[in-house]
Amino acid sequence: MTDLLLTHTSQIVTLAGPPRPRTGAELRELAILPGGSMLVRDGRIVAVGVVADLEQVARDPEVVDAGGRLVTPGFVDAHTHLVFAGNRAREFEQRCAGATYREIAEAGGGICATVRQTRAASEDELVAAASRYAGWFLAGGTTTVEAKSGYGLRTEDELKILRAMRRLGQSTRLRVVPTFLGAHEIPEEYLGRADDYTRVVIDEMLRRVAEERLAEYCDVFCETGVFTPDQARRVLRAAKQHGLRLRIHADQFTSIGGAELAAELAAQTCDHLEHAGAASIAALARSGVQPVLLPASVYAIRSTKYPPAREMIEAGLAVVLATDFNPGSSPTTSMRMVMSLACAQMQMTPAEALTAATINAAYSLNRGRESGSLDPGKLADFVIHDAEDYRELPYFFGDQRAAMVFVGGCRAV
Ligand code: NIG
Ligand code: FE
Repeated sequence: MTDLLLTHTSQIVTLAGPPRPRTGAELRELAILPGGSMLVRDGRIVAVGVVADLEQVARDPEVVDAGGRLVTPGFVDAHTHLVFAGNRAREFEQRCAGATYREIAEAGGGICATVRQTRAASEDELVAAASRYAGWFLAGGTTTVEAKSGYGLRTEDELKILRAMRRLGQSTRLRVVPTFLGAHEIPEEYLGRADDYTRVVIDEMLRRVAEERLAEYCDVFCETGVFTPDQARRVLRAAKQHGLRLRIHADQFTSIGGAELAAELAAQTCDHLEHAGAASIAALARSGVQPVLLPASVYAIRSTKYPPAREMIEAGLAVVLATDFNPGSSPTTSMRMVMSLACAQMQMTPAEALTAATINAAYSLNRGRESGSLDPGKLADFVIHDAEDYRELPYFFGDQRAAMVFVGGCRAV
């Protein structure tokens, strides 16, 4: 593979820094190189610096002229529900007319509606649908996504989704980190028998997922009317025994102890947290659990209750931002839209939002040593934005295509 020499940038935001997630004031330290250049070899970053220096060491490089534009690491989206069939545009229309997200779910729509369609779809159909969305992620500058199962809720269907994810990672340029979310909802055939379903998740699904090595993480939706902290604990403990790392959906609508459970089990992340109070924040801080905040899912369900990002930053939490891409509460692949919401609605600064969307997100997926910043030795996953300054990323919103996107040093967009 020939060398790649990136030249003529307005600024390279490297996010270089200590090899760990960033907290407190570190979230605002972007390590920017004005007018910097970058040398890539064999898909990895060799050096970031002044063009004249890099030309000395480059071996017959292919030159990529950034055209005086901004360069950042590729976005890392640490929470998506990427693989599903159909969509819920009709429910969206009902919500616009006044129905709430939870009313629709209680009437048999919501997650269960997508489960019915996903069960009916073949693995090939799921790969095709997800490939289309993978193209959207890449076009917006996202180079790594976490992807959850959870629209199968039957062993064979959960495995089908996870296999589709694996194929997606092989057939597109998007890097995919798989999470098993069999405990996403109580399926209709188990209504009123949540404990029985929890046993199926543990005894059948988890075992198969681990045997086939189909997931790195296990997640549970811990919420009133879905899985109790006790049921969530059983699933997550079993997952840990199978060698999976843990994530948990908690405090989305009600605070029932999911954040405390994340702390107790030393989960990698605790996600949503719209209703997190001081107790939840203190628990996460005690155990170093990373909060993954999903403001697009607040916006899209017509809520105004955004998660308390400022309190979390002040408490020393290594905040992450993600899309929560899914057909119900958050139909967007745009990390720039998420950053915009975080700044405009949650009082995060543009620098904090960018750190939360890149290096902190990478650490939350156990990819911090490979991705999330433009440091020598790391994967050359980077974006040339149609912008000059990083503040433009959340400032201009609604039109978020990247100019060029590179994954492992190869042009993906
Ligand atoms: O993260 N909270 C639960 N699950 C998703 C929503 C999934 C759906 O509506 O299809 C979420 O918001
Ligand atoms: Fe989610």
